[in-house]
Amino acid sequence: MDRIRITGGNELNGIIPISGAKNAALPLMIASLLTDDTLTLENVPHLADVEQLIRILGNHGVDISVNGRRERQGEGYSRTVHFTCRNIVDTTAPYELVSKMRASFWVIGPLLARAGQARVSLPGGCAIGTRPVDLFIEALKALGATIEIDSGYINATAPKGGLVGARYVFPKVSVGATHVMLMAATLARGTTIIGNAAREPEVVDLANCLIAMGAKITGAGTSEITIEGVDSLSGARHRVLPDRIETGTYAMAVAMTGGDVVLEGTSARLLETALEAIRRAGAEITETETGLRVVRKGGEIRPVDVVTDPFPGFPTDLQAQFMGLMTRSSGVSHITETIFENRFMHVQELARLGAKISLSGQTAKIEGVPRLRGAPVMATDLRASVSLVIAGLVAEGETTVSRVYHLDRGFERLEEKLTRCGALVERVSD
Ligand code: UD1
Repeated sequence: MDRIRITGGNELNGIIPISGAKNAALPLMIASLLTDDTLTLENVPHLADVEQLIRILGNHGVDISVNGRRERQGEGYSRTVHFTCRNIVDTTAPYELVSKMRASFWVIGPLLARAGQARVSLPGGCAIGTRPVDLFIEALKALGATIEIDSGYINATAPKGGLVGARYVFPKVSVGATHVMLMAATLARGTTIIGNAAREPEVVDLANCLIAMGAKITGAGTSEITIEGVDSLSGARHRVLPDRIETGTYAMAVAMTGGDVVLEGTSARLLETALEAIRRAGAEITETETGLRVVRKGGEIRPVDVVTDPFPGFPTDLQAQFMGLMTRSSGVSHITETIFENRFMHVQELARLGAKISLSGQTAKIEGVPRLRGAPVMATDLRASVSLVIAGLVAEGETTVSRVYHLDRGFERLEEKLTRCGALVERVSD
């Protein structure tokens, strides 16, 4: 199994191209189930989760062709992928496929809207809390679906004549349940109003793509989204928005090591709260014509407290990385996780590098230390694993991160991007 070996101590200097967002690409790909026409997505990142979803969509009858040649645009990489689902050939999403990635559960919305039925395995994904599906079930029931749970599967059936528009207010913000209700409502009869909708940029990206496909949607990016159902959707061409989590991760890496890096092809508006926290920690961040420039030249890393929250709050997907940064701060900081109840598995691994972190309920107290020391550590989930890389970049000596398949789910060409900026990072196979 592959490991990442990092020799700490080098600054980061140069350009890091930011890839298309995994968390936007996944729902956009799933939206191809809503039309018999071709949906073309540009800037699709090459990641294990994307490849897994390609397999799942193929199972439902989606023909997928990837632009044979990987286009190099400026300093960035991008793939254009065409999705065509002339007919839905199978409305079952089996356990073997869904258990590997939670987002694949989201096919339930389009399958139900277009084929009138879906049998979808209860999901798997990162081991970060229980992650139930009650909100999806309530939202689809509100649109008239009948839902039964049977042997680990959800059987959903639309009423005769299809789903019916309705008003539904989520009791809790959920990105995935908002995506699913949004997609399902595009083909429902009448008007749907989603209350307490997720406001994440990836929801806006999905809505923009659906609008390009002919859907009638207003309010995406606010907590109330209105959808007027249409009879059918057409194909479209859409560019996946930049990955704000990758952006924040590399910004934190530069804040950690010091240096001067341009994060190319991204935008500050996608992660203002996180950028503000990184600035308070001591990095200068400015917008450039091509993206964001992150600079830290000398000076200490200052302690900063953060609390994770739905967008526009501090993203839970950057919590582990920020904790990595705070392990080297000049004082005591606190990080509170409010989205997932079990998202502190990186704490004990960071401790192996010499970090001083104590947990009390959902809050971690981090006492900054003057140095970290390299050690073998284990990736436990997608975002946790990259926090270990950030810490490894400044740890004295060698850090090896095992179970890197977690990293490959969400970070495109991580070693290459860091190495090109001067880091000593390599992938080793046993
Ligand atoms: C998405 C992101 C993930 C991110 C998360 C929160 C993708 C592919 N994944 O995950 O990277 O960490 O948003 O920003 O986009 N919940 C329920 N019942 C439900 C659904 C969710 O209680 O039916 C809870 C979850 O357990 C969690 C909270 O709601 O505590 C938020 O989860 P949600 O926003 O749904 O996360 P995902 O869409 O799975």
